[in-house]
Amino acid sequence: MTRVRKAVLPVAGFGTRVLPATKTIPKEMLPVFDRPAIQYVVDEAVAAGIEHFVFVTGRNKGAIEDYFDTAYELEASLEAKGKSDILAEVTRTKPIPGSMSFVRQQAPLGLGHAIWCARDIIGSDPFAILLPDVLVQAEPSCLAQMISVFDETGGNVIAVEQVPADEVNKYGIIDPESREGNRIRMRGMVEKPAVDAAPSNLSITGRYILQGSVFDYLADQAAGAGGEIQLTDAMARQMQNQDFHAVEYVGQSYDCGSKLGYLRATMAYARAHRELGDGAQALINEFSGN
Ligand code: G1P
Repeated sequence: MTRVRKAVLPVAGFGTRVLPATKTIPKEMLPVFDRPAIQYVVDEAVAAGIEHFVFVTGRNKGAIEDYFDTAYELEASLEAKGKSDILAEVTRTKPIPGSMSFVRQQAPLGLGHAIWCARDIIGSDPFAILLPDVLVQAEPSCLAQMISVFDETGGNVIAVEQVPADEVNKYGIIDPESREGNRIRMRGMVEKPAVDAAPSNLSITGRYILQGSVFDYLADQAAGAGGEIQLTDAMARQMQNQDFHAVEYVGQSYDCGSKLGYLRATMAYARAHRELGDGAQALINEFSGN
């Protein structure tokens, strides 16, 4: 079976829900404790064996490209001052040369359109999609759990989790057919259904392994929910002809698309930090009056 080597990271969004922080800084570059949000997503994918990243960017997103590049003056200065620990942290952000591609989405036409912009670089092999608004703490990484399932089932695999019944209208929601352990065979999915029309409370987490044929479904697709070209609609069509499994992964997701979501993610990752975790926990306790 073809290995999942490439991942698409759509990063063209304006970050409207976290303005004004995102007025001049891409939201993916906002710090979640001591590193930009995007670093956690790349680390998750690398831990799952991803070798090539396709960033779908837009205007004012240059900081992302620069972050994954050499910072000559900075590195030279750290080296000259003998700050080898910090230098190691900084150089660790650099990927293997040639392992990142950047393609622009020129208009915000929806997630489906953003993914479609990566079609030439991805080709026809199965590939991963990671939405960088969502950070997932999991061991093995969320995408690694999905790849384990994909290696057995082939087809298409997406990550899902349960959400409160009154929040289903914020997510893509799956229509489950049958379940075996944490694996769910689906018969459909719908993007942001009304609360009383949702087929389940299992939401799409923002992690996907899809066959390259999804691009055929995206190519001719009309706008769906919210007037946007939706990935969920393309997958629902693809599902008529191909196997789709959902994995209720083991782990915890954090939605960095909102201000409180960022705060929650920041506290969670601070608490889990190798050296500073205890100090962070003490601060959190101080604020909660414990
Ligand atoms: C996107 C997807 C949705 C998914 C969600 C996860 O929606 O379209 O299916 O459940 O991400 O965060 P967005 O949050 O971009 O509106």
